[in-house]
Amino acid sequence: MLETLNKIRTQVVSDLETVQSTAELEALQVKALGKKGELTALLKSLGKLPQEERPAMGAAINEARKALQERIDLRAQELKRKERDEALRREAIDVTEPRKLPEIGTAHPITIVMNEMIECFTGMGFEVLQGSEVELEYYNFELMNIPKNHPARDAQDTLYIDDNIVLRTHTSPMQARVMLARKPPIRIVCPGRVYRADELDASHSPVFHQMEGLVVDEHISMADLRGTLDAFAKHIYGADVNIRFRPSFFPFTEPSAEVDLTCSNCKGTGCKVCKGTGWIEILGSGMVNPKVLDMCGIDSQKYSGFAFGIGLDRIAMGRFAIPDMRLLFEGDARLLSQLR
Ligand code: DAH
Repeated sequence: MLETLNKIRTQVVSDLETVQSTAELEALQVKALGKKGELTALLKSLGKLPQEERPAMGAAINEARKALQERIDLRAQELKRKERDEALRREAIDVTEPRKLPEIGTAHPITIVMNEMIECFTGMGFEVLQGSEVELEYYNFELMNIPKNHPARDAQDTLYIDDNIVLRTHTSPMQARVMLARKPPIRIVCPGRVYRADELDASHSPVFHQMEGLVVDEHISMADLRGTLDAFAKHIYGADVNIRFRPSFFPFTEPSAEVDLTCSNCKGTGCKVCKGTGWIEILGSGMVNPKVLDMCGIDSQKYSGFAFGIGLDRIAMGRFAIPDMRLLFEGDARLLSQLR
């Protein structure tokens, strides 16, 4: 029996060297020392020995169990340490590895241009207001002195929601809303989207952007309009650009003028972009029609005003050399990534 015990002992000791994981070690422990293990079996067979040999043999088995348990515990510690080290190595994070930078967005060209204009006009004391894109026909047309049968109301141009409600065709209705709500002095700009029943092509879009301007006070003259727009043009395009006024007609201004800007492409010498003229049309303007002032509750005997409506899309296209209007509205991230 002593021989068997020694065999078991040597076997366990040599097995201990070969186990490579805590799971294997546990299996070994069960096999050697468990309830149904080899040493327990040996203890149970003590009865087969002669009475006088039993105490010594029992003590030997217990001593072996204790010694083996200690070795197993030691090995368990070793294996645990080894497994933890391996896990740490596996899960290690290389903090020196260069990280992938997230893509950072850019403002849309329209937004860039709009923000610059806002900065320019607020610098001149204008307040920024935003109107509603869904507008009553009454403000969009009637109060802007565009009567019922005026061609500008043609269903071809205007997107109607119902008989009285339209998608605003210009930002000008904000003039009426502000004049009806406030007393002069008024000095506001209103940027935003406007809508017309146009097909989308390289130079038209059913949705585009304008910035309305309105100044109403005593003694406002065409010279104030010109000075304001000249300061605006030089702020946005630089000191070497000029503006020119061309007589025009709008129902809500009298007199009216269309305003051209030195072509940013050829600096005025004439090119494809400006069709050889050296000028690019950027806005409509004029002195607020006294009829409009009166309709909006402002005494046209006492007050006068000027107004302008700037088209932002064409300006953004010129500024960023964007050849096709559709690029402004298709949301292709590759366009924006070029502006970074
Ligand atoms: N509302 C005009 C348009 O959409 C632009 C415009 C012209 C606005 C003259 C004005 C103005 O305020 O005075 O074409």
